[in-house]
Amino acid sequence: KAKVGVLISGRGSNMAALLYAAKADDCPYEIVLVAANDPQAPGLTLAAAEGVATFGLSHKGMKRAAFDAIIDGELRRAGVQFVALAGYMRLLSPEFVTAWEGRMLNIHPSLLPKYKGLDTHQRAIDAGDSHGGCSVHIVTAELDDGPVLGQTPVAILPGDTPDTLAARTLIAEHQLYSRVLADYVMRERSPEWLLGRVRAIAMAQPEAD
Ligand code: GAR
Repeated sequence: KAKVGVLISGRGSNMAALLYAAKADDCPYEIVLVAANDPQAPGLTLAAAEGVATFGLSHKGMKRAAFDAIIDGELRRAGVQFVALAGYMRLLSPEFVTAWEGRMLNIHPSLLPKYKGLDTHQRAIDAGDSHGGCSVHIVTAELDDGPVLGQTPVAILPGDTPDTLAARTLIAEHQLYSRVLADYVMRERSPEWLLGRVRAIAMAQPEAD
């Protein structure tokens, strides 16, 4: 299975969705590390209880590039091949983004390119939109930019507040992220990895007589 590292800042419900989806035998990825820029992030406690390696370090007082270099080192030590940002509320240094170019995804609670940044649900309601939603995209140097891999629209109901809309959107996020990550990992697997798998399967076959 492809090794995924998840970066979180808090609750970690998207991380949990990825983690539980990965328990299916046919899921092409596994979560090998959950790292947070807050050692108190509740998601770290859940990941640890589920037997996943965790790393928590406060970014406070550290230069962005220096902090990201530590996270990068932890990801590499764990053998991570793909990074999933899941509510990681911190801008990444250009060095980190370049190092993981094409191998790092993010989930954002809007129908991108609408409403990059914060307060996405409030902005969708204020604009009178019929739908909010969520997007999974490849991370590039620009915030909440980069090619969109999948989206789910979520109807805005009369009387919705940012909180009620966020709660409903979160259900869609959990479905979308694991599916898009699984598809992406399957597509991006290196020829070397595929060759290794083919060899392993061939070795496991009983000898033809
Ligand atoms: C999610 O709604 C995610 O889409 C959003 O933060 C929440 C994290 O919740 N991310 C962003 O706004 C990134 N720009 P979680 O910790 O329970 O997954």
